[in-house]
Amino acid sequence: MNWHLRASALAGSLSVPGDKSIAHRALMLSSLARGTSEIRGLPEGEDVRATAACIDSLGAAVRTMGTTAVVVSPGQLAAPDADLYAANSGTTMRLLAGILAGQPFSARLTGDASLSHRPMQRVIEPLARMGADIRSQDGCAPLQVMGRPLHGIHYALPVASSQVKSAVLLAALFADGETSVSEPTATRDHTERMLRSLDITVEQQNGRVTLKGGQRPPPFDIEVPGDVSSAAFFFAAAVLSGGAIQVRRVGVNPTRTAFFGVLERMGARVDVETMGESMGEPVADVTVTGEIAKPIEIQEGEAAALIDELPLVALLATRARGTSTIRGAAELRVKESDRIGAVASVLRAMAADIEELPDGFVVRGPTQLCGATVSAQGDHRVAMMAAIAGCVADGETVVTGAEAAAVSFSGFASCFRQVGGRVDVA
Ligand code: S3P
Repeated sequence: MNWHLRASALAGSLSVPGDKSIAHRALMLSSLARGTSEIRGLPEGEDVRATAACIDSLGAAVRTMGTTAVVVSPGQLAAPDADLYAANSGTTMRLLAGILAGQPFSARLTGDASLSHRPMQRVIEPLARMGADIRSQDGCAPLQVMGRPLHGIHYALPVASSQVKSAVLLAALFADGETSVSEPTATRDHTERMLRSLDITVEQQNGRVTLKGGQRPPPFDIEVPGDVSSAAFFFAAAVLSGGAIQVRRVGVNPTRTAFFGVLERMGARVDVETMGESMGEPVADVTVTGEIAKPIEIQEGEAAALIDELPLVALLATRARGTSTIRGAAELRVKESDRIGAVASVLRAMAADIEELPDGFVVRGPTQLCGATVSAQGDHRVAMMAAIAGCVADGETVVTGAEAAAVSFSGFASCFRQVGGRVDVA
């Protein structure tokens, strides 16, 4: 599927699908809770559907009606009859590996071609230290997880990754004794917040999270807030085209909102009107206005909190007067695509002055982007970043392989049109 885009000014108010990270965790924890849980505001993207199908295969019956899922779980998982297919979703594979590590059965996790090339040793290593037996193909999927009795460990994450932290914390629920994880820089803390809101004792001190084994969540109801990483595409469009965009009921967990600070440092304005909380996750209506004036420097320690928004930061930098530098983002090389290479190739084809670094980008601005035919490279965030670039490019932009966007944001093109975007789908 291709998107054909023309320059357009985006403005208005919209809501975006539910937060993918929170939805994965809600589905997985509901599968461990004996009884009926209800998850509303579930994103309909392929990643979350993969998690729903996996927990269903593990014996937690999932019934989905639109954006609501009802999960009925016996409170313990059962051996699946077939492979558990995580599709394109790193979160599904890594977090499920954590849960499966301590089960009294064996299961095989598989993924699509992209996921099968992504690094899994980072979860295998700490889980093996806890006593798990996980076989891989040179550190990649498929993963054969042979459940074993686990014991607690103290683990210092070598890379800042919420997925790895969460895999260890979920395994810790099934481990004897206490497990603690410390991280080099803070990453999204949805797992900790959700566990805590389910009365599981999770201690947090000086960058170290500690959990005692044997605790189980009760069933729950949750309304998943909008995904701030999906909203970010529209916020970027607002400041590139000089409009104002409001996204309603979006999650504003402080470990996810570093992009707001970037927008402000580059000259835009961000208004956050808090609406309440959902299972420990703050929810707000967020309005972004203004224009990009200044370049930005993203330092080593900042990249983790911005990891999913960095393609947009590179795009915004093409508009800034001066040189922007993004560093410390080597993790982008092992996302759904090599996101440093993919973003640089898309923006370069559109006439940006962008240079790849091993761990980021240098972007010299301002440049007027020109429409071009660019590939999504199988990566949802690259597809949507290219669409937003198309809003401010001269002439027509064609994004090939645009179906990749459905991994996290299945209705992207219609939301885009709703706020004035000009896109034809062919
Ligand atoms: C996610 C964590 C991040 C992020 C991904 C979702 C999560 O990955 O890029 O989109 O839900 O925990 P890492 O933890 O590997 O950085």
